[in-house]
Amino acid sequence: ESGKLWGGRFVGAVDPIMEKFNASIAYDRHLWEVDVQGSKAYSRGLEKAGLLTKAEMDQILHGLDKVAEEWAQGTFKLNSNDEDIHTANERRLKELIGATAGKLHTGRSRNDQVVTDLRLWMRQTCSTLSGLLWELIRTMVDRAEAERDVLFPGYTHLQRAQPIRWSHWILSHAVALTRDSERLLEVRKRINVLPLGSGAIAGNPLGVDRELLRAELNFGAITLNSMDATSERDFVAEFLFWASLCMTHLSRMAEDLILYCTKEFSFVQLSDAYSTGSSLMPQKKNPDSLELIRSKAGRVFGRCAGLLMTLKGLPSTYNKDLQDKEAVFEVSDTMSAVLQVATGVISTLQIHQENMGQALSPDMLATDLAYYLVRKGMPFRQAHEASGKAVFMAETKGVALNQLSLQELQTISPLFSGDVICVWDYGHSVEQYGALGGTARSSVDWQIRQVRALLQAQ
Ligand code: ARG
Repeated sequence: ESGKLWGGRFVGAVDPIMEKFNASIAYDRHLWEVDVQGSKAYSRGLEKAGLLTKAEMDQILHGLDKVAEEWAQGTFKLNSNDEDIHTANERRLKELIGATAGKLHTGRSRNDQVVTDLRLWMRQTCSTLSGLLWELIRTMVDRAEAERDVLFPGYTHLQRAQPIRWSHWILSHAVALTRDSERLLEVRKRINVLPLGSGAIAGNPLGVDRELLRAELNFGAITLNSMDATSERDFVAEFLFWASLCMTHLSRMAEDLILYCTKEFSFVQLSDAYSTGSSLMPQKKNPDSLELIRSKAGRVFGRCAGLLMTLKGLPSTYNKDLQDKEAVFEVSDTMSAVLQVATGVISTLQIHQENMGQALSPDMLATDLAYYLVRKGMPFRQAHEASGKAVFMAETKGVALNQLSLQELQTISPLFSGDVICVWDYGHSVEQYGALGGTARSSVDWQIRQVRALLQAQ
């Protein structure tokens, strides 16, 4: 006897290097709990189909509970023949309850078993990550609400663009994360479909009631086609893409903050808790937390691309290529860590309100100067040109835009009058942007209410 669950037709031994190469236990052991859960449901299905007596089912259920207990307590002993979590758990079950264990796999294949396990595991992970994501969003919204009177420069092309509220910047990133949260729920919905009862390829020939299995494992639906069910990993690809896009958002936010905490910007200061120093330069305080978030984005994208590459060449149904689940485990761990670190960074960040205010400059009001003329009746194209001329005039004279005299402005357009002085007030500037979604206080408050409503709907 080869000691393998599939050993019947084999005479020769497996090369030890192949044995190691083939094994997935090193990482699929993460699935121990869901594997037991799936097997318990399946044994109920077998009992209902008349393939197990009630006593046999109870024996199996009890044995599986013992297996789970050993995993939970760290006493489960793997042996060298345990190729993957499915074979390990069944081997142990047999040691615990004897020959009845051999009935558990009736009509089941590791092909439908593994994908059931994976879906159960990922369903749980989605819920955990969703909670962490909302924690981050809540932290950002709280901050946006507390600091909504702080103004600072908004940039396009990393060039000074227009004055905005600091909260408007925070919310710009929080709003992106709300889409990630919504997307994760959708991915979870497609994860939450039961493949068990599909067998290896052709389905289940022994009358197992898949609706019972679905209810036992609390899935939202059952898969439609056994060939598709055992081999499609769309839900994994979607999860990895979800993670990639979420990391894109976090990486962009990290990049902004890395710039903002340089001496050159000095808008924010990272807490010591999320920074590190230099072994050589004593003065250094580096934003490592943010840089690591930025770099992990690259690794997550790689995992997503890697899976798609694996899937694209596969012939129909199960192929061993599908064994590689490390991407799921790694990316789940990464997302969990990144979301918690980001929450910590945001909640402990200090802002330098004065520096932010001092970084505003009158040239950032050139757009508002054009709008001033628009309000006096000038067509926007002409107003843009006139304001551009004022910028040029100020630059030529070597003065700030707001230092031009009324007479000088009037050489550009007779529509300028004494009330132009209002344009040079940054608070007045941001308050003009009151349409929903803009940087005026009322609109920022509206954004906060909208995001809070989404939080509450969770
Ligand atoms: N360890 C395998 C996996 O994770 C289990 C399925 C193996 N199925 C097979 N026909 N060899 O995919």
